[in-house]
Amino acid sequence: MTEPNVNAGLERTAAVILAAGQGTRMKSELPKVMHTLAGRPLIYFPVRAALDAGCVEVIVVVGHGRELVSSYLEKTFGGRVRTAVQVAQRGTGDAAKVGIDAVDATRDDCDAAIVFYGDAPLLAASDLVQIAQALHGDKASELALATCTVDDAHGYGRILRDARGDITEIREHRDLRTDAERAVREINPGIFAAKMSFWHSKLALLKPNNAQGELYLTDVVSLARESGQVVRTASARDAVLLGVNDRQQLVEAEVAIHDRIARDLRRSGVTVRAGARIDEGVEVGHDATIEMGVVLRGATVVGPGASIDVGCVLTNVVVDAGAILKPYSVLTDSRVGARAQIGPFSHVRPDSDIGEEAHIGNFVETKKTRLGRGAKANHLAYLGDGVIGPAVNVGAGTIFCNYDGYKKHTTVIEEGAFIGSDSQIVAPVTIGKGAYVATGTTVTRDVPADALAISRIRQENKEGYAPRLRAKLKPSKKSSSST
Ligand code: UD1
Ligand code: CA
Repeated sequence: MTEPNVNAGLERTAAVILAAGQGTRMKSELPKVMHTLAGRPLIYFPVRAALDAGCVEVIVVVGHGRELVSSYLEKTFGGRVRTAVQVAQRGTGDAAKVGIDAVDATRDDCDAAIVFYGDAPLLAASDLVQIAQALHGDKASELALATCTVDDAHGYGRILRDARGDITEIREHRDLRTDAERAVREINPGIFAAKMSFWHSKLALLKPNNAQGELYLTDVVSLARESGQVVRTASARDAVLLGVNDRQQLVEAEVAIHDRIARDLRRSGVTVRAGARIDEGVEVGHDATIEMGVVLRGATVVGPGASIDVGCVLTNVVVDAGAILKPYSVLTDSRVGARAQIGPFSHVRPDSDIGEEAHIGNFVETKKTRLGRGAKANHLAYLGDGVIGPAVNVGAGTIFCNYDGYKKHTTVIEEGAFIGSDSQIVAPVTIGKGAYVATGTTVTRDVPADALAISRIRQENKEGYAPRLRAKLKPSKKSSSST
């Protein structure tokens, strides 16, 4: 949600995000708001929206699994977000009270608060701004809230209105009394804005006289009406509505987020095919192509004009301009230089740094290995703990023997050296500039620059031996059926 700071009217407003519930319907050990979608925990999204909207204070009400939630928020947002603890989950009204009480009463730049649910990942800064403006735009109103009209209102709090069309209350699904109430399709998506004084007075009056025996935030509507206060409603985007209560909704919301990210990238000049999954926070430069089945995660950055072909999975990878990743390559915590080529079927493991115009081909695995400019390892190799200079050629089947069972050791191959196929390089060892390692060599000692290293048994040819060998090996007719 890299929406620019909308900053229109929320600079005097605190955000209170309710996230203390257990999320029973997730059937999980993990607190609901820590379940991830598009690479981030659920709670990231509403917090991001509040920060993007320019709220002066952001308070997250935590309870179930609060250590986990708090430490994530601290790590991700630092001092910009504070938490307040709701010890027992007695309902959204009680949670709102905990949050409102935590708003710093001494700060005089904060006279209103916007309260919303932490399980709504599609909510954007503009949705918060819309409700804040509904409150501030009308001097008489004490409370403003979002509503949505849906085909299937099952499970949601219904918006009930009087004959004049003014909202009178929100009634929870379980508390509905008549078929007429059940037929109401206007529901509460859960964004409420009010002055601090309103919150302090009304939240104190909530009573648990409802089907769940909880304090309902939604009851502030009828309380406001009872004291003759004006309540404004504003119709919100449908997307705001999608609260995550179970794993089905988690995935539905994730699909919507991936779709939003793909659309935003296409608008900025990136070809993103259907079926690519680009997580929140990933950056892709213009004229890059992201094919179907590609997964881009974490702090991945793809440079301009790069091509990521079908089925590649990149986690925290920086790909420089014009690099080509062929199908089904898996890269993690690494960098790929400009115009380098990877794959198909390459495995680039953490701390690899593939230089400009270098090539890593099929069934090549690298780990903590640096390749210089234009170096090549095109087929079937394991390159672990290596420092490979520019223009080095690593032949098929080369293995860096980097591990002695206790420690990892480094292989250094200097510029322009040639490693023949099926060689084993037993680290620690250095192969000098321009050296030549003959096919099938086991390198155990340093190779000086421009030297030839060769270690293999001399070949012997036995003239006329092949027919004799065949006669000896060929099974007789009787015994052949038994094999
Ligand atoms: C709530 C609304 C309902 C609305 C729906 C929209 C109430 C009473 N109901 O129902 O009108 O249509 O959302 O999705 O507000 N929470 C706490 N502490 C608690 C209870 C809940 O922090 O004691 C938090 C939860 O972590 C969650 C949010 O409040 O993030 C909403 O709670 P949830 O139980 O999901 O409410 P719904 O039944 O979905
Ligand atoms: Ca919910």
